[in-house]
Amino acid sequence: MNILPALFAGALAAAAAAAPAAAEEKPVALKQAPGLDEVEANCAACHSLDYIIMNSPFPTAAVWDAEVTKMIKSYGAPIEDADAKAIAEYLKKNYGS
Ligand code: HEC
Repeated sequence: MNILPALFAGALAAAAAAAPAAAEEKPVALKQAPGLDEVEANCAACHSLDYIIMNSPFPTAAVWDAEVTKMIKSYGAPIEDADAKAIAEYLKKNYGS
């Protein structure tokens, strides 16, 4: 038995399996605006940025402030004060009601 073709087929299968996973990890497109960098750097560690879009029909400005505080205080998100402020401003401007 020749082992090489089997190895080659295995490598192809692995490559095919990897492709769809990579497509799923395409970053969520949030609105381009000041503060987006801070959001992408701090809010994608534990869950998808989809959470922001899925929740955006609801929060008013006060709710977004509370949401950012909750991520830090309740869930332990390690976000600097200055970044948290930029993030809250961004969310209120772009995804607030
Ligand atoms: C330390 C981990 C962590 C980080 C970092 C984090 N979150 Fe969350 N977030 C969670 C958890 C845990 C939940 C609730 C559980 C779930 O539904 O998956 C959640 C849920 C949410 C929800 C859904 C509503 C809710 O309250 O459950 C929104 C919106 C949200 N996060 C926004 C953000 C934003 C904006 C940031 C950046 C400031 C952020 N998250 C950073 C852990 C985190």
